[in-house]
Amino acid sequence: MKRDFLYHRIPMLLTFAALLGSCGRTSGPKVAPYLDENAPLETRIEDALSRMTLEEKVAVLHAQSKFSSAGVPRLGIPEVWCTDGPHGIRPEVLWDEWDQAGWTNDSCTAFPALTCLAATWNPEMSALYGRSIGEEARYREKDVLLGPGVNIYRLPLNGRNFEYMGEDPYLSSRMVVPYVQGVQTNGVAACVKHFALNNQEVNRTRVNVVVDDRALHEIYLPAFRAAVKEGGAWAIMGAYNRYKGEHCCHNSYLLNDILKKEWGFDGVVISDWGGVHDTKQAIENGLDMEFGSWTNGLSWGASNAYDNYYLARPYLELLRRGEASEATLDDKVRRVLRLIFRTAMNTHKPFGSLNSPEHLAAARRIAGEGMVLLKNDGSVLPFDPGTMKRLLVVGENAVKMMTVGGGSSSLKVRHECTPLEGLRKAAGDGVEVLYERGYVGDVSTDYNGVDSGQDLTETRTAGELLADAVAAAREADAVLFVGGLNKSGHQDCEGADRLSYGLPYGQDTVIEALAAANPRLAVVLVSGNAVAMPWIDRVPAVLEAWFSGSEAGNALADVVFGAVNPSGKLPFSFPVRLEDNGAIALGEYPGGDSVTYREGLFVGYRWLESKGIVPLFAFGHGLSYTTFSISDVRSDRTSLGSDGRIRVSADVTNTGDRAGAEVVQLYIGDEESSLPRPVKELKGFQKVSLAPGETRTVTFDITPEQLQYYDDRQGAWGAEAGRFTAFVGAASDDIRGTVTFELK
Ligand code: GLC
Repeated sequence: MKRDFLYHRIPMLLTFAALLGSCGRTSGPKVAPYLDENAPLETRIEDALSRMTLEEKVAVLHAQSKFSSAGVPRLGIPEVWCTDGPHGIRPEVLWDEWDQAGWTNDSCTAFPALTCLAATWNPEMSALYGRSIGEEARYREKDVLLGPGVNIYRLPLNGRNFEYMGEDPYLSSRMVVPYVQGVQTNGVAACVKHFALNNQEVNRTRVNVVVDDRALHEIYLPAFRAAVKEGGAWAIMGAYNRYKGEHCCHNSYLLNDILKKEWGFDGVVISDWGGVHDTKQAIENGLDMEFGSWTNGLSWGASNAYDNYYLARPYLELLRRGEASEATLDDKVRRVLRLIFRTAMNTHKPFGSLNSPEHLAAARRIAGEGMVLLKNDGSVLPFDPGTMKRLLVVGENAVKMMTVGGGSSSLKVRHECTPLEGLRKAAGDGVEVLYERGYVGDVSTDYNGVDSGQDLTETRTAGELLADAVAAAREADAVLFVGGLNKSGHQDCEGADRLSYGLPYGQDTVIEALAAANPRLAVVLVSGNAVAMPWIDRVPAVLEAWFSGSEAGNALADVVFGAVNPSGKLPFSFPVRLEDNGAIALGEYPGGDSVTYREGLFVGYRWLESKGIVPLFAFGHGLSYTTFSISDVRSDRTSLGSDGRIRVSADVTNTGDRAGAEVVQLYIGDEESSLPRPVKELKGFQKVSLAPGETRTVTFDITPEQLQYYDDRQGAWGAEAGRFTAFVGAASDDIRGTVTFELK
């Protein structure tokens, strides 16, 4: 009976079900497309745009506070919140101030500076870095991370080199992509900066950079191009300086022609803070969001003057008078809405985390892998706690916190393990770790209202400090000098450049005296720039430890006690003398109203090799506690067609007695070119971890694209037929084999 009842009613039931399905959702009112998380992104954008008034469209294009821009409250479209910086999430600031707001829940993990990340030569570390810092930004409810910075290291005096990834466009390109992707998997936009040609801090908001097209395209743009085209960056920050006479925050050639048209960038261009100077240029030359204008944080204008912004009331008035294009306005608003749907209104994003053990472990691992063993005759490092009773640590940088200061990348960390703290922990009870200041550098401990809480005051004279350190050195089994630069003005710090190439505060004298007092001396440099080392022949071991964040001391101890076998490689050259640097040698720094990059594309090792100048330590240089051979460099063919590829191989063997990692580097030289080209240029690298005695074959596929140069006669990239050389080695000045081949 029951079966019959249903059997004869199936058509009606099917009709009823069809009716239900046709009205879409089975429950509640239909949501507007822009609120429908399952609607295509572009559908949501067009729907939201169609609902916004002129005032609302203008409002989302400029700041409403120091680090936020308006949403559309009426439509439930949220605000956009930005945060510095490239190494960690800046403490919350007051609405319209640079100083911190004094919150107690915004301490963060400080990851190593980006020179350290670049020095790992390991894109997996970039992915780990980006994911981790993105999780901290997400947890702090931020939508845009104002980083990473990828400006090329043009000379060793730039105060912000520590925030960037070195002198080579290929290394920076490979290392920036995973960072951007890692950040953005958290629903947080990476805002890659400073686009472009911001390679000095002197006169940074005005200086007009004059550079030839080849250097622009072959040296200064590639890392940004990779961040956009491979990394999929959702935001780019315009630079303060000018190029072709226009400020980079509203520079039509850079923003409209290259970034948006040629590279197809669909994200937002955000100004640097105070980088906007003209309404019509801001409208027409590719800027989308204006921050930091007018406020007193940039030494002019009124506070809370957000309606005065160039893209605020002035823009609205032009639009109302019909003197500004609504189509141009809508393009900006579409980009901002796309950013909002990717971040603030992205309902699929994870929830992030802050100060987690995983983030501290990541900071420690990246730091340990980025430290570069510059020199080691084997007599001192690695320390063996079993063979020493007394280790002396000398130097202010063994105790001074480095996560505070340096400019906008300054942080408020939950805890910073200083070198001395880490060394004492790792040495264990059997080793007495003594400390001597050795010299006095920068005793300031605060920045933007964040105070490290350290008391670095010193009453002894320089002579007394030196005598005390030397006396202690004589009694020690080994001495570790921990010095370098710091985050104070005219050191590694935003807003000013270094004034000299040598170590500051009389450190050279201290190092010489220590070397005379005890031959078992290792020098550790905590810094973000190359420095002179007049004492290098009298010091058996030198380690570049970078600014390595919350876990600096633990990571340093891992390396000096051998728990971690160093595998870092230099991301920039260390010239012997400042005058060995191209920009300095040509007198083209810091310039006046203009600065001319007369060295062109001959930057870093490209310059040194073109002049036959031997560096103190070369780009790509870095030692290990074991040794490696790279042998049998070979290729599978000797000529390359326009569509083919050549496979270059080499065998790398760990010839020492402990596990370690080597970075096998591939450089290419164009032997017959109608335009000047560097002796060789980095075109590939692979980091290989090997057990003692283990051999691995490393292969590089070379395509015609990697042989190209930017032909400024055509305004296009191209490769010339002719003979090329592939150089394979462990550093730019340590080539272990070559092969030549013809490009047909
Ligand atoms: C600073 C820096 C930039 C930073 C911004 C916000 O002046 O140039 O890197 O993200 O302003 O602090």
